[in-house]
Amino acid sequence: MEKVEISAPGKLMLFGEHAVVYGSPCIVTAVDQRIRVSVIADSGQSLEIEAPDVGLSGCLLEIDSLKNNNDLPKGARFVATAVGNFFDGFGIRSGLKIKTQSDFSSEFGFGSSSAVTVGVIKALSELFDVKLKDQELFNLSYKTVLDVQGVGSGFDLAAAIWGGTLWFIGGGKTVLPLKIEEVPIVVGYTGIKADTSALVRQVAGTKKEHPEAITKIFEAIALGVQEAKNALEKGNWPRVGELMNINQGLLEALGVNTRELSSLIHACREAGAFGAKLSGAGGGDCMIALIDNQIKVKVGEAITDAGGRVLRVKLGAEGVRDESNR
Ligand code: MEV
Repeated sequence: MEKVEISAPGKLMLFGEHAVVYGSPCIVTAVDQRIRVSVIADSGQSLEIEAPDVGLSGCLLEIDSLKNNNDLPKGARFVATAVGNFFDGFGIRSGLKIKTQSDFSSEFGFGSSSAVTVGVIKALSELFDVKLKDQELFNLSYKTVLDVQGVGSGFDLAAAIWGGTLWFIGGGKTVLPLKIEEVPIVVGYTGIKADTSALVRQVAGTKKEHPEAITKIFEAIALGVQEAKNALEKGNWPRVGELMNINQGLLEALGVNTRELSSLIHACREAGAFGAKLSGAGGGDCMIALIDNQIKVKVGEAITDAGGRVLRVKLGAEGVRDESNR
């Protein structure tokens, strides 16, 4: 039986989280930590999922009941729904064995579910010889993510597909690769797993209560994202740092910051970082600090002393790719 192996990168949000859900742009970068998905077709009637990183082993599902299966653990739901959407979209039915393996913990908020979704659909397109353009791969992956979690801009899927550093507008309306030098960044993990969907819903609730104030905050975030694009393209790191601090203040105003994130962010600023902010939904996960590379060690120690963990990643990694030796 033919086996297809695909890998897709995780991501870090640089600017514009939450506002991107409401149509503003964001800037996202792919990281050099990847998820690998291998798929084998067989003559059976079931989908078998092995995902040891999220504690799934020998998960067996009938191929005719893959979608809307809320009893499944989250890790399996993205895989099953991706397969269901692909089969329905192209009129295909087949038994499958899918194995996923990750370079990084699903706790970090690097977008493991999105990378898995992209990896599964890309692998199926190779296995069943269905030609998918990047935008079509995005659309089917985005449908899958919305089917499973109901909310999200899809920025993490774009990072997994196109890689590099991207200017992204919600739902994949615009995906523009940015030409920038390697961004000197340090990543700190709080040790707390954030619930992205819950935080997106929380912000939606705040927006309902205070529509004008929150709309103004989103507008201010969008202005900062535009300025950050220019500063990133010029490699003007002090200015990018200032814009990160402004973006962080606006995220605080949205109510998604936490004491743990703040403590890592302030430790980095005090250690001399140009700027620092949370990255992603807030509520935990990671923060990022923009630095002069000469103080990398000092900023890393500041993160550790403040109770965080430094994650070593490179930004601007390659997007989804076929790793099969065929
Ligand atoms: C989460 O990492 C980023 C959010 O903007 C949600 C999304 O864009 O899907 C909060």
